[in-house]
Amino acid sequence: MCGIVGYIGKRKAYPILIKGLHRLEYRGYDSAGVALINPAGQLNIYKAKGKVSELETYAADKDTDGCIGIAHTRWATHGEPNTVNAHPHYSESERLAIIHNGIIENYAVLKAVLQKEGYTFKSDTDTEVLVQLIEYTQLNRHVNLKTAVQLALQQVIGAYAIAVLDKDNPDTLIAARKGSPLVVGIGDEEYFLASDATPIVEYTDKVIYIEDEEVVVIRISGLADEGISETADEGISETPNPLNANPLTITTINNVQKTPEIKRLELSLSQLEKGGYPHFMLKEIFEQPRTLTDSMRGRVNVRQDNIALSGFIDNKERFLNAKRIIITACGTSWHAGLIAMYAIEEFAQIPVEVEYSSEFRYRKPVINKDDVVIAISQSGETADTLAAIQLAKEKGAFIFSICNVVGASIPRVSDSGCYTHVGPEIGVASTKAFTAQVVALTMLALCIGKEKGTMSKEQYLCIVRELGQIPDKIERVLGQNKRIADFAKTFTYAQNFIYLGRGYNFPVAMEGALKLKEISYIHAEGYPAAEMKHGPIALISQEMPVVVVAPHCGTYEKVVSNIQEIKARKGRVIAVVTEGDQLVSRIADYTIEIPATEECLTPLLTVIPLQLLAYHIAVVKGCDVDQPRNLAKSVTVE
Ligand code: AGP
Repeated sequence: MCGIVGYIGKRKAYPILIKGLHRLEYRGYDSAGVALINPAGQLNIYKAKGKVSELETYAADKDTDGCIGIAHTRWATHGEPNTVNAHPHYSESERLAIIHNGIIENYAVLKAVLQKEGYTFKSDTDTEVLVQLIEYTQLNRHVNLKTAVQLALQQVIGAYAIAVLDKDNPDTLIAARKGSPLVVGIGDEEYFLASDATPIVEYTDKVIYIEDEEVVVIRISGLADEGISETADEGISETPNPLNANPLTITTINNVQKTPEIKRLELSLSQLEKGGYPHFMLKEIFEQPRTLTDSMRGRVNVRQDNIALSGFIDNKERFLNAKRIIITACGTSWHAGLIAMYAIEEFAQIPVEVEYSSEFRYRKPVINKDDVVIAISQSGETADTLAAIQLAKEKGAFIFSICNVVGASIPRVSDSGCYTHVGPEIGVASTKAFTAQVVALTMLALCIGKEKGTMSKEQYLCIVRELGQIPDKIERVLGQNKRIADFAKTFTYAQNFIYLGRGYNFPVAMEGALKLKEISYIHAEGYPAAEMKHGPIALISQEMPVVVVAPHCGTYEKVVSNIQEIKARKGRVIAVVTEGDQLVSRIADYTIEIPATEECLTPLLTVIPLQLLAYHIAVVKGCDVDQPRNLAKSVTVE
């Protein structure tokens, strides 16, 4: 989805905004734009199609002066990626400029009303309709900018995080959110706003997470030379506000005053750098031994053979009395949910349903008060997952979320949960968050199983001890990176791939296929290995590479037969096997070894070679690994 950033203060806004856009570029990179009010009070907008670097080139010889500005990097929803549809958008009079992340669902209705009032539209976007509506409201209701924004947003159906500039109020920055994320950073006589904290962390660690339907007004009087501002003649309907006292005020769109809660950021700048790696994705793959150690710190105590998850301990009864556990998620997080289904049913003996959030929320699902709903989301902002848990919450279910971004919307609406603590994941293709989600969910399954007595103490102890070994075992798998890079070159010709796995490793096959699809643009499908005979085996030929996840556990023999069926039809097989495997390594074309471990933990090792394979194939193909086409890191619209 789009990334928005804003600045008001004593520094030049442009360089801060551009740096912020680079930090947010993983959210969308179809076009970029900036709006600035210069000391002369002019409102300048510059936009370019494509990456932020295109905008920098375009604006290089332009007037980018000014200490107040807003900027946007786009993931197109309404209107194709081009300069006209790029944000910011002017209002009819070019007095206002707006940036927006989200979707105005009733924009066509509002547009028709405004067209009847003589308003014209340059772009195909829903966002331009909003800035026209704000201007129309201001002029026709004779209210100030803030009230106009409030009244306009009262008419909007959909999701938004917006920021608005008004050249008649050159000392004022207004922003608002509903559904889409918005964070305000508080500096020393300066303020930052952004879709997430990554553009803010280098300037301040004091932030406010803006709640749904809140409007933020930041006014730094004296910012503009002319000092022309609307303060003097506040809107009639306006309740007196302490603006002069406090530059930042928050109200609801219905003008109820709110008291902002300032939080401290736990993020560090170094986490946002590539650290010498060519891509964030490769850095994040290699971070997994450390990130899993961080995820387990204070939770897995190998010496005491115990797992302590505060979210479980504080809500034990909800889990122990749960008749059913519903897992809801999207994409890679959904694959982690599938693995959790195997673990929770095996160790806790509670029926689990794994739902695509987008289907679950519209399927009119049967949800009961004694259901536990687990939401899995790296970003914590995925719109479909957020809506799915809001629906489940309305029906009285207990909401437990697994999330990686502290303070994100999903954990904020959940009853409890568990942060994965892997640090910011910048690469659009999720890697380190996936393995941490699997660890968090496995820890939860073990906690419930132990408490319910549905698993033996020996098995519990064995798995707890093995969990402590996993980071080192991943390190050993990463040691094969060069070898995987070498044979990945021989597969760049492929148009299609099939990934196969059984049991705990069927979801890993799905995840491996997704990684290849999203960064190399090669079509790939993940299947339960036994399903192959029911259709996909028709696709097998010398041109069809098949990746088989075949660790020595569970249904290993059956997987070996599946590989023989593929080889019988001249398929090329890349197999992920357990160290010392004799059988598969004799029939597969390529094998990648993983150390032995407990079956339920094998996904933490078997997925690593699949992450690397996808990465190296994409690199050889010259794809933009960190920012693959058409994708965005967190999907904040439906
Ligand atoms: C995974 O590599 C993708 N980026 C995507 O499928 C992602 O997993 C999905 O959009 C869910 O995101 P979330 O975990 O932030 O909710």
